[in-house]
Amino acid sequence: MRKKILAANWKMYKTPDQATAFFQEFLPLVQDHDRDEIVVCPNYIALPAAIHAAKGSRVAIGAQNLHWEKEGAYTGEICTSMLVAIGVTHVIIGHSERRQYFCETDDTVNLKLKSALAAGLTPIVCVGEVLEEREANLTDDVLRRQCLRAFNKVSAKKAASLVVAYEPVWAIGTGKTATPELAADAHAIIRAEAADSFGQEFADNLRILYGGSVKPENAHALMSEEEIDGALVGGASLDPKSFAAIVKY
Ligand code: 13P
Repeated sequence: MRKKILAANWKMYKTPDQATAFFQEFLPLVQDHDRDEIVVCPNYIALPAAIHAAKGSRVAIGAQNLHWEKEGAYTGEICTSMLVAIGVTHVIIGHSERRQYFCETDDTVNLKLKSALAAGLTPIVCVGEVLEEREANLTDDVLRRQCLRAFNKVSAKKAASLVVAYEPVWAIGTGKTATPELAADAHAIIRAEAADSFGQEFADNLRILYGGSVKPENAHALMSEEEIDGALVGGASLDPKSFAAIVKY
């Protein structure tokens, strides 16, 4: 049995004070919840407040991005040692918004994945097709290419903590959710590619999250699919009651 992960991606929302207020309301709602892993990924500036607020709870804190170099002259960037130093344990890599707006490529995803694994961070690597690719029946090709390149020269041993998130771009922030069946089909493609890259046993244990307009109302149906090992939640994770309802689906 793969333990599910319910992860919040707060994107570019919440000041440190707002992050603290979120946890004050959220933690009591999930304090007895040990069925699943819970991860919250605030922006860089709100990370220390979130880590402080979540201390002693079961909620892990993740970043939304990282730079792959150990340190250096990269104005505006953050590297793994900085994240680890403040208590970050997870990191989202290759989110479609970074691919779309910030020149993230399959190759930079690969560099970031290697860097995160080397630092002991749990990477959540995002893949997913845009609408035109789905309509042209290219979903299979796109997911396989994104995974193959992301996993390039990463060994199964090193990748042990890897988590993948399937986020169809047409479902992000649009209110359009993939049906549980459609998401499960995509997850099966990703799992098959993981089996090719890392072996069947690794693939059987790999957790693949679904992301794209997950809400309290659709979380149960999505999480009931055997292929779906959790959720990466954007908009509906900003409100403590709403995210707690998703965690408890
Ligand atoms: P929404 O839940 O707002 O659609 O965002 C999904 C997402 O991008 C999570 O990373």
